[in-house]
Amino acid sequence: MLAIVLVFGFTVLGWIGSRIYQFMPPIPERIVTTDGRVVVPDGSVRRGQAVWQTLGGMEVGSIWGHGSYVAPDWTADWLHRECEQILDDWAQSEQARLYAELGPEPQAALRERLRLTLRANRYDPATGTLTIEPVRARAFEANQKHFAAVFRDGQPEYAIPSGTVSDPERLRQLSAFFFWTAWASAAYRPGEVISYTSNWPHEPLIGNVPTGEAIMWTGVSILLLLGGIGAIVWFYAAMPAAPPLAAAPARDPLVGVSATPSQRAVMKYFVVVAALFLLQIVAGGVVAHYGVEGDGFYGMPLSRWLPYSLVRTWHVQLGLFWIATSWLAAGLFIGPLVGGVEPKGQSLGVNALFGALVVVVVGSLIGQYLSIHGRLSDVAAFYWGHQGWEYLDLGRVWQAALFLGLLIWLALMLRVIRPALDERGERRHLVFMFALSAGAIALFYGAGLMYGRQTHISMVEYWRWWVVHLWVEGFFEVFATTVIAFLFARLGLLSAGLAAQASLLAASLYLAGGIIGTNHHLYFSGTPTAALAWGATLSALEVVPLVLIGYQAMKDLRISRRTEWARKYRWPIYFFIAVGFWNLVGAGLFGFMINPPIALFYMQGLNTTPVHAHAAFFGVYGMLGLGLTLMCLRALQADREWKEGLLRFSFWAMNAGLMAMIVLSLLPVGLLQTVASVQHGYWYARSSEFLGQGLMQTLRWLRVPGDTLFAIGAIAFVVFVFGLGLGYSLEDQRRPSAGARRWAGERAETDVADELSQPVAGGPSGGRRTS
Ligand code: HEM
Ligand SMILES: [Fe+2]
Repeated sequence: MLAIVLVFGFTVLGWIGSRIYQFMPPIPERIVTTDGRVVVPDGSVRRGQAVWQTLGGMEVGSIWGHGSYVAPDWTADWLHRECEQILDDWAQSEQARLYAELGPEPQAALRERLRLTLRANRYDPATGTLTIEPVRARAFEANQKHFAAVFRDGQPEYAIPSGTVSDPERLRQLSAFFFWTAWASAAYRPGEVISYTSNWPHEPLIGNVPTGEAIMWTGVSILLLLGGIGAIVWFYAAMPAAPPLAAAPARDPLVGVSATPSQRAVMKYFVVVAALFLLQIVAGGVVAHYGVEGDGFYGMPLSRWLPYSLVRTWHVQLGLFWIATSWLAAGLFIGPLVGGVEPKGQSLGVNALFGALVVVVVGSLIGQYLSIHGRLSDVAAFYWGHQGWEYLDLGRVWQAALFLGLLIWLALMLRVIRPALDERGERRHLVFMFALSAGAIALFYGAGLMYGRQTHISMVEYWRWWVVHLWVEGFFEVFATTVIAFLFARLGLLSAGLAAQASLLAASLYLAGGIIGTNHHLYFSGTPTAALAWGATLSALEVVPLVLIGYQAMKDLRISRRTEWARKYRWPIYFFIAVGFWNLVGAGLFGFMINPPIALFYMQGLNTTPVHAHAAFFGVYGMLGLGLTLMCLRALQADREWKEGLLRFSFWAMNAGLMAMIVLSLLPVGLLQTVASVQHGYWYARSSEFLGQGLMQTLRWLRVPGDTLFAIGAIAFVVFVFGLGLGYSLEDQRRPSAGARRWAGERAETDVADELSQPVAGGPSGGRRTS
């Protein structure tokens, strides 16, 4: 079943990729007027894309709705300004008045003329020339003046500092790129009556409204979701009752197990996790602050050194780094538990990988600093600085190095769990799933290397989402499910067979929707409608396992209460339950809120997106990273008692803070933006006119309580974790439970390899192994 899902999914996804390549909006070599004047000389649009990438690309405003939220969407903003310019130009020259001063009927006539002008596709593929009317060329000049001023002189409401781009030629190229994205959002595709972006953004002045397909596939996707939920409930109801679980072991199987050298070497990863987590939160605070104060930080001109675009890049990237590090570390820590052996040189590998990761983190952050401060050429910026593509911001060299690091990690994982893969019995399937998800996580990062420095933005988007989406909505989900199941099995709280079965089913479900669901990021990015149809329907199916996840979470909770000694693991397990909660709320509900094409048409890139992104990314994978960190630390000191007060506080503060950030601020802002987007056009929902209004400002300031609570919780977590190393988070004396005491007394010196190869939950004895 899993194999069918994988083959079918990637066949469709690959086919859609080839269609995007064929039908994406052409990039004109040059743009000329009908009377033969050159407006944009050869190659400028492409060069403009590079200028935009070097200055931080998607980290400053957005293109086609993808990017950051404080500055406008450049496509929608350009398009709307262009429309207004042209309407005023005609009204002035023909009626000596501004468009706004005309009566409704003459206005309607001009609007219709505007629609016909902007909708016509006058690109000539034979010569690579795009021809525009002189009136449009005049609008280009006016717009170019405006946008040049924004990037040259700065604009506090957009959090853009002065001097962001100062060379007049580069400013003009940047405008050419913005113009082109707006052109593609209005011009009809050859032989069709919808634009290259499926009429995105909503712009009433030219009749850019949702397409018939967008509405139809919205309906189908909702039906499929309901049908999917129905089917799975039916399936569960029809399943024979699960056999009663074998008795849980009377004592904690991990007590008395001393760590292998490589497991000890992993500990420093967790220190880095804590440090990066804190840094990310500091960066997040500064970013949120720029959202309301523009270019300053409580009056300090911080943006001169650390502009919004840079801090936002760091915020996003540090989040990826610490979460990834915690997972890599957890994998490396769990490896010897799975395989039962510690192959020679494993800790050397662990240490080498650590060094490589530190180099990538530090190098990429410095590269981004240099790129955004304009110290690198466009070519150098791509390789060493800032690619400008959100989530894959780091320069290509660092990106490749990180890929290499992931491959090393995979190799370290595989060599340590190999013995368990060769084994017979139920456990093998679980180990196989574990290896599969680890392999997929490492290999799919490679998809981010499939585009080059000057690749067309539609193709970059395709590959970018291969990484981001297939990770978070595919293989990460599989990894999370498998790893949690594995840990329970290892503790003897769940039978390996059941755990393997459940993981396999979950993996198939996640991937069935998740692979093709990638296209829900590609509805409007210059893609054919196949992307919209497949994306909308299959991504709706992703939500099916998520809405039923409470079932799994409650089972986990019950399992954790099966024995007295398992209470010790309750905090990591609470974090896993939080993973389930946010999977339902953050990924399932807030994901589906923006997922149907008709919703995303109005909402893409509004504050509804960070609602989902924070709740899903931190809620699910951040919590998982913290839970795994705790689980590893717990296993390392299984015979010590924790002082849990600080941890309890941090758990609730982080969860409540995240919820407050969303409910008090991001969600209301996003929903009011949605109303504005439907009523007036997308540009308006993102404009500083709208976001600067009193109510919106208040709502944006209301992030402070939630963010603060969250940050305090995070600090408490870090303080607690350091306390495990320094001792203040541990109870003074060793006070193991009765069973554990007996166990520890009986076997003071434990042979690690022997201990670790203990079978999980009632399997045949693993026996002694040597490496
Ligand atoms: C734990 C799982 C998930 C995580 C970690 C996650 C994370 C993210 C992130 C980081 C973004 C990008 C936000 C941005 O552009 O700044 C995003 C966008 C999006 N996600 Fe998810 N997501 C998850 C699951 C889902 C699910 C299940 C759905 C719906 C079926 C979904 C639908 C979407 C959509 C439609 C967007 C595009 C929003 C836009 O472009 O404005 N996500 N997600
Ligand atoms: Fe997605």
